[in-house]
Order: sequence, then structure tokens, then C-alpha cells
Amino acid sequence: MPENKSTSKKISTGIKGMDNALMGGIPEGNQLLLAGGPGVGKTLTSFEILYHAAKANIPCSMVMFEEQQDSALRNIKSTFSEMDGIDGLISTKMLQIEGEESASKIFGNTNAENYTFGDFVSDIEDIIKLNKSRILVIDSISFIKFMVHNHGAYRRSLISMLANMRRMGVTSIMTSEMQTYDRSALRYTQDFFLFDGIITMYQLGEEHERLLAMEIIKMRGANHSRALIPYDITPSGIKMSDI
Ligand SMILES: Nc1ncnc2c1ncn2[C@@H]1O[C@H](COP(=O)(O)OP(=O)(O)O)[C@@H](O)[C@H]1O
Ligand SMILES: [Mg+2]
Repeated sequence: MPENKSTSKKISTGIKGMDNALMGGIPEGNQLLLAGGPGVGKTLTSFEILYHAAKANIPCSMVMFEEQQDSALRNIKSTFSEMDGIDGLISTKMLQIEGEESASKIFGNTNAENYTFGDFVSDIEDIIKLNKSRILVIDSISFIKFMVHNHGAYRRSLISMLANMRRMGVTSIMTSEMQTYDRSALRYTQDFFLFDGIITMYQLGEEHERLLAMEIIKMRGANHSRALIPYDITPSGIKMSDI
């Protein structure tokens, strides 16, 4: 394993194999993209990182857009059935789950047709300020495409959102849904490289013998493993193979 020459402060993911692969954790202040096909564990992994951080008294926020917030949380709790104290972290707001309101505005369930990307970014800023969040998850950013009209606008929106997060000094993890599970079919779009860090999650093999594996593509300011690391989703959390 390469030697860790980085001196920047790291945020532990709380997932042992992931911390090892990241040589200690996510460099503080990095904007990280967690990308993968549906069902590979993006929501669970990003939740687990916040769970461990919140347990260590780091205030965190998770903004969820994919589904109804309570059913998403129910799914997380049923998968991670051996993870203690989730409700306590949420009720003390050490781990704040948000998104229902923004989601209904974005997807047009309320009378908020003029809800723009700028409004969204300012809502996120409010969430961060109110909770003094040091780590933010946005699950997922795929919805941004609903709010903007073309690729140029999407890219500009992403750049301005990332600039805001950097200005606020928050470390963030943004999930993105990819079209494929297949590593060889994956095409990195330019947008990926706007982020400080990129982790991709794959489902390899056939459905009946599926193997989940994670790969750190880039991590600004840090040395990291370049291995493809298998992982399992278990009731006590994500378990990564030793590398
Ligand atoms: N109890 C469990 N044991 C093992 N795997 C599970 C369990 N519950 C859910 N999963 C897996 O977790 C996946 C969902 O993870 P999730 O983080 O929501 O994926 P994503 O956000 O990438 O779409 C499901 O596709 C399923 O394979
Ligand atoms: Mg998800």
C-alpha cells in the first residue's frame, strides 16, 4: 500500500476498509461524488458515513430527493437493523435528515413552479447554517437535470453549487445515479471531474452471483488505494474486504 504523505485533516468514514483505502478518511472540505448504478448501496454508504460522524459529535445533514423521506429512512433502518441509536442521533439533530420540502418543490408536487436551482442552493445553505453541519450528503444530484434546461446549464449549476459548499467549508458527499453497473461500459463525463473526489460503486457478475465493489477514482489532497475493493451490505453496516 502506498505511504500516506498527505497532512490534511481527514474525516473518518467509520467504515474500516474504506478508511484504509482512503488512508485515513475523506480530506476535510472535499466535495465527493459517489456514483453507481441503482441499488449498489450509494444511499446506505453515504448514510453510514454520517451515522459514524454524528456518533462522534460531528453535526451532519442528509438531504434526500430520491424517495419519500420517511420511507427512505425506514429502508435504511431495516437494512442496518443492528445499527444502534439512529433515532437518537436524528432527534438530537446531530444527524439531520432533510429534503421532503425541497423534493416536493423540485418535482412539482406543490405550487412552487418557480423553484429554481438558485433557490435550491440557498435552501441547502440554510440547512447547513441552521444545523452547523460539517458534513453534508445530497442524495442524489441526478435531480439537478430536472431543474435546468441543457448540459451547459447543468454544468454551471454544479460548479456554482460546489463553489458554495467550498466557501462554507463543508465536506460533502453527493450521490449520482449511473446508467450502468458495468465497469468497462462506464464513461466518465466531464462533470465528474468538477469534484475533489470520485468513488464509483459497481455490481459485477451476473444477478445470481452479484459482487459489489468500490473504486476510488480520485481524491484531491490525498493518497489512496486504486484497487477495486469488494464490499457487502450487512445489518451492521457496509463491510469492505481488506486490501
Ligand atoms: N438486509 C440487506 N442485506 C443485504 N443487502 C441489502 C439489504 N437490504 C438492502 N440491501 C441492498 O441494498 C440495496 C439498496 O441500497 P441503496 O443504498 O438504497 O442503493 P442506491 O442508493 O445505490 O440505489 C438493495 O439493492 C439491496 O441489494
Ligand atoms: Mg439511493
